[in-house]
Amino acid sequence: SGPELASVVLGGTVDVLDFPKPGIVFKDLMPLFADGAAFRRVVDGVIEHFGRESFDVVAGVEARGFVVAAAVAYATGVGVVPVRKAGKLPRKALSATYELEYGEATLEVHEDAFVAGQRVLVVDDVLATGGTAGAALELVERAGGTVAGFTVLMELGFLKGRERLAPRPVHAMLTV
Ligand code: PRP
Repeated sequence: SGPELASVVLGGTVDVLDFPKPGIVFKDLMPLFADGAAFRRVVDGVIEHFGRESFDVVAGVEARGFVVAAAVAYATGVGVVPVRKAGKLPRKALSATYELEYGEATLEVHEDAFVAGQRVLVVDDVLATGGTAGAALELVERAGGTVAGFTVLMELGFLKGRERLAPRPVHAMLTV
């Protein structure tokens, strides 16, 4: 259920004060990933929410999005495409620069990563300002994909990141 999944996410998260910069409270979901039962529960929760017929491929956002995206892809039998930080991809890539809650960053995706019209489920661990997810959205669409939805384990609701993604469906297991 929704409340049960939210409590699994909450129970696997550690708040780290002043990381990576003073004043930022970093939501560390790595304890959740390290707990086999909890990790399986949240991966299954993503698939239950969207349904395995609603997407053709999963895109994972570096770095923690890779972990969840690969598990969702494996469990549903679709492929996984990495959306990477600048300079990591070996072949010709599209780039999008965005503002973070702390600083600025660039994401990239291979220009041939998607088949035209492929429905893409974009996966990350946390939605904060939505800068990252917005850049991933831009990249998927410039590369010819269609965003079927976004899924995150945790959303920082007060930063209103989901407003940048409208009207695409955004699912967060826990909103704080
Ligand atoms: C974190 C998180 C999301 C992003 C959310 O990643 O994993 O990708 O920030 O923030 P936003 O909604 O304000 O854009 P981070 O930039 O720490 O990168 P990492 O996963 O490579 O450590």
